[in-house]
Parts: sequence; C-alpha cells; structure tokens
Amino acid sequence: MGDDGTREWAAGDGFIELDGLEKVFDVRRRAGRFRRERQRVRAVDGISFRVARGEMVGYIGPNGAGKSTTIKMLTGILTPSGGRVRIAGIDPARERTRLASRIGVVFGQRTMLWWDLPLIDSYRLAHRMYRVPDARFRANLDRCVELLDLGDLLKVPVRQLSLGQRMRGDIAAALLHDPDVLYLDEPTIGLDVISKTRVREFLRELNRDRGTTVLLTTHDLQDIEQLCGRVMVIDHGRLLYDGTTAGLHEAGGGERTLVVDLERETPPLELPGAPGARVVRVEGTRQYLAFPATQSAAPLVARVAAAYPLVDLSVREPDIESVIARMYGERAGA
Ligand SMILES: Nc1ncnc2c1ncn2[C@@H]1O[C@H](COP(=O)(O)OP(=O)(O)O)[C@@H](O)[C@H]1O
Ligand SMILES: [Mg+2]
Repeated sequence: MGDDGTREWAAGDGFIELDGLEKVFDVRRRAGRFRRERQRVRAVDGISFRVARGEMVGYIGPNGAGKSTTIKMLTGILTPSGGRVRIAGIDPARERTRLASRIGVVFGQRTMLWWDLPLIDSYRLAHRMYRVPDARFRANLDRCVELLDLGDLLKVPVRQLSLGQRMRGDIAAALLHDPDVLYLDEPTIGLDVISKTRVREFLRELNRDRGTTVLLTTHDLQDIEQLCGRVMVIDHGRLLYDGTTAGLHEAGGGERTLVVDLERETPPLELPGAPGARVVRVEGTRQYLAFPATQSAAPLVARVAAAYPLVDLSVREPDIESVIARMYGERAGA
C-alpha cells in the first residue's frame, strides 16, 4: 500500500499502526561558562505495534520513557524523526485536520478547556470548531453530562473546578465529536479515589458501549488492572513488553500473597508440599505467605486449611509496579 496517506482504512488493518517509530530531540545543554553541548535524546527509539479497532490498551513506563512523545506523534502534534505511523489509514503529521475529527485527546497535566469561561462555553466552541451536527452534539453532550455528572458544573468557570471535576470536563470535551479513538495521557494523575473510580467506570462504558478504541497512559497501575486487557510497557523509548495484563506478572516473575488469619498466634506456618510458598511476615495472628503469581492459590489454601485453624484468608495481587521493576532488573542484568 502506498505511503501517500490517502488510503482509506480497511477492516483487518491495525487501527493504530506504528512501524519503527522514532523521535529524536536535539537538546542544547550548558556545559561550562560559554560552551553549549548538543545532545540527542532518543525519546522514542523504534517502536512498533498494532492496535485493533475497539481495543483498550495500556501504555505504561517510568517517567521520561517516551509515552507522551508517542501520543503526540499519534495526534500529529509532533512529526516523527523516523518510522511510520497511521491512524485509520491517516498519517497524523501530514493530515492533522482530517485526523482531528477521528480522535479525541486528554492530557492530564494540561487542560484543553478555556480557563476563564464557563465549562459549557468550551463545549460550544468545540461544537463549532469540529462542525458537529447539532443533534449529535446535543446527544453527546447530554450523555457525557449524565455519565460524568457535569450537570451542576456547566456554568462554572473552569478555573474554579477541582482537579477531578476539570478532568471529567476535559474527557467530555474530547468526546463531543464522536471520535473513534481516544488517547488519554495520565487521565487520573492527582485525582482522589472517588474521582478515579468515576473516570474508570466512564471509560469502561465508553469502550464497551460505543466501541471507542482507547490508548491509555498512566502511572496508576490500578487503571491498567481495572481497564485494560492488554498492556505495553516502554522504557528509554523502546517497547519492553506487549501482552496481557496477567502475562505481565509472568514476565516479571511476580509473587502473590496469601494472607491468613489464624485462631491464635502461631509460629511461622510450615508447609512442606507447597513448593515456592513461604511465610514473609507475621503480625500476631496474621501471616503473609508469598507464592508465585503464576500458580493457583487453591492447593495452597487447601493445605493451610487442613493443617491450621483458620478464621479468614484473602489473596493479594502483586502491584504491577514491582513486577515492572523486576522486569527492568532482569533486563539490566541480562
Ligand atoms: N520537546 C522536547 N524537547 C526535548 N526533549 C524532550 C521534549 N519532550 C520530551 N523530551 C524528552 O524525551 C524523553 C521522553 O519524554 P516523554 O515522552 O515526556 O516521557 P513520558 O511521557 O514517558 O514521561 C525525556 O527524556 C524528555 O526529557
Ligand atoms: Mg508523559
């Protein structure tokens, strides 16, 4: 297929397609009193992946990994230094305006709303800017207002909104023109637990009910666990992992924890016949047993229950952060 960027997207293609995508920044740094050194930062260093229509994918990695730079190339804000990117067959950098009607973007750290105007005014401007048909705009606005609970906020100037309210306002603004793809760059950053839950619920419904393709960048690994079946991990501009969220535990060799509450204080449980399981902490009648995340908890639970008087038990999942840390460790040591 041609590289002219005019080819229409066809079913079966990746909806989002990256092939060896690169972004190099030339940075000038002070090096001594008069000298300035040129330095090349390979922010995105050859990333390839495909996302199918309707997928909800997590894009995670430590600070400075290249997540935001990738998103900016997917929206046409930044031009790639190398490689290729297509969204629904469109080359973002060359056809930014045509792409604009297909995508919505939310940057958690920067609002797209008009700071001094009531929220509704930003929406009216978006209505005109994107030339959304009136009936459709109305329907989308009503839906967002209801699901994101914006009813009381429409007349409030954006600068008076709390962070959580503003984020909900930003998400609505990104969706009023019915985009096929939604990019979210750290949408839950700085939000309290209730706001996070609300945002997550909304995104889950959006993806399920409207089939919107979602690419989500986040620091909060619970976002990924709760929303994304697939996750990509990047670091230093390179793709480190692309697979299921569950598989991430396997790749990182993580452990789960069985927390058992016993009837009385007991020396650390001894469990011959439960390979890989070991007591890692004792707090009075509560004991913590670590076991490989890839194993089922059932045989271990049965074994503990057969040998000790139990009051309660629960299984704790590892946080992905530690899994990723392990992954980095392995790579560094390789
Ligand atoms: N406009 C820019 N000019 C120079 N360097 C940049 C620019 N934007 C990002 N970088 C650098 O590129 C790297 C990746 O940044 P970024 O994509 O923002 O990472 P992330 O979003 O994963 O935290 C970092 O080293 C950052 O300092
Ligand atoms: Mg970023």
